[in-house]
Amino acid sequence: EKGNYRHFMQKEIFEQPTVVAQTLNSYIRQVDQSVALPQIDYDLSQINRVTIVACGTSYYAGLVAKYWFEQFARLPVDIDVASEFRYRDPVLEPGGLALFISQSGETADTLAALRHCRAEGQTIAVVVNVPTSSMAREADLLLPTHAGPEIGVASTKAFTCQLAVLAALAANLAVLRGRLGREEEAEIVRHLIEAPACLNAALDYDEAISEMAHLIAPARDVLYLGRGPDYPLALEGALKLKEISYIHAEGYASGEMKHGPIALIDDAVPVIVIAPSGPLFEKTVSNMQEVSARGGKIVLISDAEGIADAGEGCIATIEMPRVHPLIAPIVYAVPVQLLAYHVACVKGTDVDQPRNLAKSVTVE
Ligand code: F6R
Repeated sequence: EKGNYRHFMQKEIFEQPTVVAQTLNSYIRQVDQSVALPQIDYDLSQINRVTIVACGTSYYAGLVAKYWFEQFARLPVDIDVASEFRYRDPVLEPGGLALFISQSGETADTLAALRHCRAEGQTIAVVVNVPTSSMAREADLLLPTHAGPEIGVASTKAFTCQLAVLAALAANLAVLRGRLGREEEAEIVRHLIEAPACLNAALDYDEAISEMAHLIAPARDVLYLGRGPDYPLALEGALKLKEISYIHAEGYASGEMKHGPIALIDDAVPVIVIAPSGPLFEKTVSNMQEVSARGGKIVLISDAEGIADAGEGCIATIEMPRVHPLIAPIVYAVPVQLLAYHVACVKGTDVDQPRNLAKSVTVE
């Protein structure tokens, strides 16, 4: 089943170019470079706000989507983890789209939140990987990811496929709301179509990441920093490292460092900085320099240009292909996953079955 791979997680990381392409194929019409969602009996152009609910890694995919829905579709977005959402009496007004993201489609808190939103009259959209799941059955708008079965407990390929679907949904809502013209829609589609090749290029860095894993493995704490749509990747990187290598890790919005966490910085705390070239690069790098000035040991994940610009003094750099900011969160998921994977391998943990965790959390 695992073929030439040591672990399911590793196999699933390497499947991403294929499964993201597969997923995009069902949301994009290549002939006219447009976005096409599955049919539903509801006029999505009438949506006036989006409420996103999910747990764990799926929640981080939702956090990225919030940036996209706001930027492209100019829709207000509320987002929460399901266990909080359910118990906080959220305000749900008519015309809202409630969007649930789940690999398994069975996560108890997410499912309960879905039922609550249905009772409150929201239109229910579901991004789900298991097409026969409870959430899939209870959706008005079913948006499947085509990642195939995910065996590794740590979610990898489901995450990048969720991002692909969410980017297509953001573009579609933007078109329906008259925020994107034909040409801009085609441009977004062209960037999305580039994602699988860029994921392949990102995977080429596997060996280099494996060679630097020993730099992180001895750490007791690790910080991840990112900004804008790449900030959720800092959270995802920290979650992956925690769950499979058992190293304590936290993700922060890079601009938040100086509001507290920078006090943690010393030469024993590696700081992983996710900074693709783009409109937020300079800002992220200036936060990174604040960390270096305090003796922080930095691993910079960027493209050749970003590394040439800011890589000096880092203990390691991880070079990604140069990508459009829209697909950066999809492509930069790879180095973050690989880093956690290789650190866990150095530590000899059970990568596919981390202690205390279950693949599908069907209890509250
Ligand atoms: C992390 C991970 C979990 C899941 C979370 C939600 O690697 O796998 O955080 O993302 O339990 O699960 P689903 O997506 O099945 O609702």
